[in-house]
Amino acid sequence: MKEKIKQLLQEIQAFSTENHEDLELFRIKFLSKKGIIPSMFADFKSVPKEERKVIGQILNKLKNDAQDKVSALKLLIEKKFIVSDESSKDLSLPANFINLGSRHPLSITRNEIIQIFSRLGYTISRGPEIEDDWHNFTSLNFPVDHPARDMQDTFFIEKNPDISLRTHTSSVQVRVMENEKPPIRTISPGRVFRNEAISARAHCIFHQIEGLYIDKDVSFADLKQTLLYFSREMFGSDTKIRLRPSYFPFTEPSAEMDISCNICGGNGCNICKYTGWVEILGCGMVDPNVLKNCNIDNDIYTGFAFGMGIERICMLKYQINDIRLFFENDLRFLKQFESTL
Ligand code: DAH
Repeated sequence: MKEKIKQLLQEIQAFSTENHEDLELFRIKFLSKKGIIPSMFADFKSVPKEERKVIGQILNKLKNDAQDKVSALKLLIEKKFIVSDESSKDLSLPANFINLGSRHPLSITRNEIIQIFSRLGYTISRGPEIEDDWHNFTSLNFPVDHPARDMQDTFFIEKNPDISLRTHTSSVQVRVMENEKPPIRTISPGRVFRNEAISARAHCIFHQIEGLYIDKDVSFADLKQTLLYFSREMFGSDTKIRLRPSYFPFTEPSAEMDISCNICGGNGCNICKYTGWVEILGCGMVDPNVLKNCNIDNDIYTGFAFGMGIERICMLKYQINDIRLFFENDLRFLKQFESTL
């Protein structure tokens, strides 16, 4: 046995290779379960007691040498592979493609809405997400007992004086009117928060874009034409709109606007619940009380405002049927927008 081990030691020491395949064959031959070394350890059991110490030592050396050989040659081959790969590179070839990722569908939609209103001369204004009672409710004519003021509907941060997460971007129109003189033409995109149960149609965090236009002689006809222009730019040139009377504390008169269903073209489908119309926003003429609250002379100036949910517009535009998809960051969903900017 001693002789055999000595022979093997020599064989191992002499071995060299420059490729992975030969090294793997070497490893299998000596070190795999059924390889030479494990089988010699099995034979070791029958070695007479007095020889055990010496044979045990050289057998261990055999095993360690074989393992060291494999690791050393492996390192060498890998290093060589990298170097040869580098040196064979044609430096004039185009660089490797780097995946750039993509914009979130809500950003794509928000940017598109911003672009449409920019073409009409609207500026962009932003306000805080944590808002006081005056800007979110009182200045906008909300009565004291309005349900949105209830703890159940709004995320309050402090009570008396009330500080909450804003429930709509209408708070930004107040901030703009307080700080700027008419004429004002602005849109305010941003995140809003409501204490809603999360479902396929509702989320406690979502996004809105508020629009505000204040000048002399601004009429409801201007509002209608602006919204028609927006709808056709956003959903296609044959889109129709209709306004239904509604109520908001901060506008008088108020309306909700529907567009002809962009999925079925108005013929009726499950998206429009077979009515041919889908609601996309609320709007109206700014209530004189709101103008007064913001120190704008309501004898000289009039204006309109509108507010829309970005998720809603995006869901209609891309036929997305569950609002939760926007917040899950599932790459299978997000990757579908890779080609859209
Ligand atoms: N703030 C309203 C909401 O969150 C949306 C809205 C409706 C905004 C009518 C407006 C408006 O400016 O005129 O539901």
